[in-house]
Amino acid sequence: FHNMDRGWLGTPIDELNRMPQCAPPLSHLKAAPHHTVTVRTDLLREGEVPVAYPSKFKDAWDDMFVKMPCSEKNLFPMETEDGSGVQSRWELIRTALQGEFKSSLDVRDAILRYNTAHVKKWDFTALNLLCTEYLEHSELQHLFNVVLPAMVDLALRVPVLCTMPIPLLKSRMNHSLTLSQEQIACLLANAFFCTFPRRNSRKSEYSNYPEINFYRLFDGSSPKKIEKLRTLLCYFRRVTQTKPKGLVTFTRQVLNNPPNWESSQTPLKRLHITCEGTIEDDGYGMLQSSKGGGEDPGVGEEEAHGGKEDEGEPSHWDAPLGLESHRRIDGYLSKLGTGCVLTFDSAEWAVILSGGEIEGSIKNSVDFANRLVGGGVTGHGLVQEEIRFLINTELIVSRLFAEALEHNECLIITGTEQYSKYTGYAESYKWKTSHKDETARDDWQRRCTEIVAIDALKFRHFLEQFLPEKITRELNKAYCGFFRNKANSKHLSAVATGNWGCGAFGGDTRLKALIQLMAAAEAGRDLAYFTFGDAQLMRDVHEIHTFLTERQVTVGRLYNLLNQYSSSVCKNCRTTRPDISLYSFIHKKVSSPTAGDAPDSAKDSG
Ligand code: AR6
Repeated sequence: FHNMDRGWLGTPIDELNRMPQCAPPLSHLKAAPHHTVTVRTDLLREGEVPVAYPSKFKDAWDDMFVKMPCSEKNLFPMETEDGSGVQSRWELIRTALQGEFKSSLDVRDAILRYNTAHVKKWDFTALNLLCTEYLEHSELQHLFNVVLPAMVDLALRVPVLCTMPIPLLKSRMNHSLTLSQEQIACLLANAFFCTFPRRNSRKSEYSNYPEINFYRLFDGSSPKKIEKLRTLLCYFRRVTQTKPKGLVTFTRQVLNNPPNWESSQTPLKRLHITCEGTIEDDGYGMLQSSKGGGEDPGVGEEEAHGGKEDEGEPSHWDAPLGLESHRRIDGYLSKLGTGCVLTFDSAEWAVILSGGEIEGSIKNSVDFANRLVGGGVTGHGLVQEEIRFLINTELIVSRLFAEALEHNECLIITGTEQYSKYTGYAESYKWKTSHKDETARDDWQRRCTEIVAIDALKFRHFLEQFLPEKITRELNKAYCGFFRNKANSKHLSAVATGNWGCGAFGGDTRLKALIQLMAAAEAGRDLAYFTFGDAQLMRDVHEIHTFLTERQVTVGRLYNLLNQYSSSVCKNCRTTRPDISLYSFIHKKVSSPTAGDAPDSAKDSG
């Protein structure tokens, strides 16, 4: 099938599986050893606010659980003459936050009262600018009279709302955590006021976790920060106005037994590929995809680790981005060679990346992630992953408990809601309006939106990615994100994805497209691929997919062809790019009936 007028090729999007239609019935929600549920499952009713479980706050101040601000173990040095003695930090937090806020300076002072070690370092310029120069008088009044006091109340209700210890989702743990949206709002209000203990320094016990306290969002004078704060305040306004009534599940998935790629007999599955549509245009609310991360030179792994912000992006980025601008960014980034991780939301796999159409129809999408999920969302980053985390704000709470992803791990987030609409991208990102998410809820009262965070490898040199071990790593990472245990293929929606790892992370789109097709096939899923405006890429990937399918080339054969390409073309390559393209190499090998697939016979392929 094609339809060049509409800018897509392959299987029509309507023929791909979609949620929730394709989903199997859910079993009754209940807690299990591998699934922590922090609400009363017996009282869960559509349209009612879930009830916290247990009824009284249970503290766990150890290395298996999130250390809570309201814990009695959360202590603070007393301001005595000799500096001896300690007091309850929670009492201090309560006193500080319950004082009246008349201006952003009062907010700053309150936050610093229980974060005295950072008085000299933390800067609140962005928060201040938002209040003094950007918000209109009525907005400002509403913020100080209504929203902030409600946020304080919400944050201070943490011992009543989040009564069960929250397990850390650590490396090598297959574990799910289901929280109510109200609990998430409470935790995020605490993050806003920077109350989480032990989370303000990278040298702390949480050094392998993303940042959760919002202090870096308040600093600097970048317009990006203003727009991020607007987006977050929209979320807080919404959840304090009307209590959200659903649940969200966070699942850390570890791939212990990767497929044997070499011997796989699996045929490729279907592909829908399009160069049209941008997330920000229309319907992305429905698909809830976020844009590719890593396009922002200021955002990447370094960003996620609190590294230096990159300055000096070209000013033409100020215009709201069309596809052309996205491509300019790509070009710019590839020149810079900056690496960023894409977070695709894989929830419904229809992609985040692509356009409105997909977003409207597929609810499983890929987040082009950083290994520290959310990347630079609480700092300077503002690309695919960060944007998705801002508009589907509940995603941010995963930073509280998700340890950095290992090579064979992903984080699947089911049920988040989109609260904001936006325009632009990176430097040109702007909060647009509040968004009413009408996505259906499943039987667990979760929005039918699934997002999977998978972090690609960052390549500094183009040829590096063709090394067999790198290809295998990316295959396993994508497979880990796409695979669903015990799921029958007919119940799995298509995966919506795009140029994963190919922006800031320097990956090759043509190689990554094959890798994702192979991983999806092995996981039993079709792929909806959004090339983000690249019509040539759309034609090339469609062409090779058609060719491979017609010739019945299996995943295993393709894997061996990739290895041959590596050993015969890339290994001895003296230039930065191979002189034979991957796709022409594959064509030649598969077309020529005499040439075998053994690495040696590939030598003369040039
Ligand atoms: N729809 C379709 N395609 C898109 C979209 C979209 N909404 N957004 C981007 N693309 P990148 P990475 C395409 O650079 O290299 C974050 O900070 C576009 O062609 O975001 O994996 C994370 O936290 C773009 O070039 O992914 C990581 O630190 C390509 O997808 C880092 O970025 C790759 O997007 C991840 O960087």
